[in-house]
This record gives sequence, C-alpha cells and structure tokens, in this order.
Amino acid sequence: MKLNGKIILVTGGGRGIGLEFTRQLAALGNTVIITGRNKATLETAAQETGAEPLPGDVTSAQDQDRWIEEIRVRHGRIDLLINNAGILLPYDFASDADTLEKIEREIATNSVAPLTLTRRALPLLKVGDAPAVLFISSAAAFVAAAATPVYSGTKSLLHHSAQALRHQLAPLGITIFEAMPPVVDTDMGAGLKSDNFKKMAPDKLVRGILKGLRENQQEMLLGQARQVKWLSRIAPGFAFRQFSKTEFH
Ligand SMILES: NC(=O)c1ccc[n+]([C@@H]2O[C@H](COP(=O)([O-])OP(=O)(O)OC[C@H]3O[C@@H](n4cnc5c(N)ncnc54)[C@H](OP(=O)(O)O)[C@@H]3O)[C@@H](O)[C@H]2O)c1
Repeated sequence: MKLNGKIILVTGGGRGIGLEFTRQLAALGNTVIITGRNKATLETAAQETGAEPLPGDVTSAQDQDRWIEEIRVRHGRIDLLINNAGILLPYDFASDADTLEKIEREIATNSVAPLTLTRRALPLLKVGDAPAVLFISSAAAFVAAAATPVYSGTKSLLHHSAQALRHQLAPLGITIFEAMPPVVDTDMGAGLKSDNFKKMAPDKLVRGILKGLRENQQEMLLGQARQVKWLSRIAPGFAFRQFSKTEFH
C-alpha cells in the first residue's frame, strides 16, 4: 500500500511504538489521528508531529463511538486503522490482590478493543482509499511466559482473529495486516530483562513495519520474532522455559 495522503488512526499514538508510527507517518504526509488516555502525552505528541489528538480509553464503547463520529465529521473516511494500544501485566495469579481486575483489563485492552474498534470503524474503512487494518500483536502470540498469565493469550487471539478477518473482510476491499514485534525499547519493554533478547529500537521497528505495509506483507515477523515462532514449533517446552526466564521490574 502507498503511505502518503492517507487518513490514519493510531491507537496509543502518543508514546512508545505508537508515537513512532505517528512521527514516521506524519512525516510522510499523512493525516494521523492519535488516541490515548493521557491528554498531556497526546498534546505533546500532537505538537511535535502535527497529529490530531483524540483523548479517551480504548476499552470504552462510548469513547470508541466518539472517536469514529469525530473522524466521520472531520475526514469522512479511515484509510488505515493501526490497533496499537496495549498493556502487559506480570502478576502472580494466586496471590496478587488485583488479579480479577487485571485479567479483565488486559483482555479488554489487548484483545476486545482492537476488534470492537475495527468493527465500529468499518463504515469509514469501507469508503477509505485502499483501506487496511494493522494489528500489533507480538512474538508472545506464539509462546507463553510464566510471569504473565494472560498477555500471550491476548496476542494469540489477535493473531487468529487477524487471519479470520483477512478472509471475511477481503470482499469489502479491506486488507488486514498483522505485525509481530520482538521485545522493543519502550515504557512497556523497559521493565523486561533477559539474556535471551536484545531490545529493538522503536524507530527501527516501525521502519520495518512500514516497509512491510508498502510491500503488502500481511503477516510481519520482526527481528527475533521470526526465531520465536520457529522455536515455538520445533521446541515449545524449551521456548516456554526461555520466555519464563524474563525478569519483570
Ligand atoms: N514493547 C514491547 O516489547 C512490545 C513487544 C511486542 C508487542 N508490543 C505491543 O506493541 C503495542 C505498543 O506497545 P508499547 O511498547 O509502545 O507500549 P507502551 O510504551 O506502554 O505504550 C502503550 C500505549 O498504549 C496506550 N494505551 C494503553 N492502554 C490504553 C487504554 N486503555 N486506552 C487507550 N490507550 C491505551 C498508551 O497510552 P495511554 O497510557 O496514554 O493511554 C500508550 O500510548 C502494544 O500492543 C504491545 O503489546 C510491544
């Protein structure tokens, strides 16, 4: 797909990987609309990049409806929806005082919200210019880790839903992309430590994903994610043990 003159919605576009999408896509001459809960973060990103901030919580049906309506009024279409916002919660399932809340929040943010937002965006995607949806899943879609009882499952769900939607939405002319990053050097990645991986810089990751979008690579395994997928197939027990060595700070 071409990457200029597009109307692009990036969830979580104010920091981390999302901010890198905002920077690089705005610099290419696209209109970038960014969402996130923290208004100040969004404003700073908007001032730096010229993006349009739409504050709100991606897990809120009301906020999703409001974003879609605002974009309909301002632009009339969405050409690319980047479902990027996500959280990673390490906790002990039995002893953590907030386990119940964490299970629901992680699934709501990482799995439910990208799908419900995509569904709500369909009317604007249908009238988009070569419309596409990009899901940011993870190498963790292929391997679980002991310290994060829910995160990998939320990304597996996205991986499988992306395949189904690729099939179902093709007749509408909507292309479904999925990018599976390795560990990336952002706020989320900052707390992760292991000898097994080297953190990828967010600008390098996003350059790789934009190259994949241009070349129509619908499933993108970035950096060490390729190795992780391969290892999960040939030695799943070993992969789980290696993933479980990751320390969370
Ligand atoms: N970093 C990694 O190692 C890594 C590896 C593979 C995949 N990923 C995936 O890449 C995506 C981006 O990760 P990142 O590393 O950039 O994380 P990050 O630095 O922690 O940033 C997360 C982004 O998501 C937004 N967000 C979180 N919860 C939200 C909510 N309820 N409503 C609206 N926005 C919300 C945050 O904005 P607010 O806080 O302002 O709401 C922020 O912009 C995630 O889906 C993550 O799972 C990351």
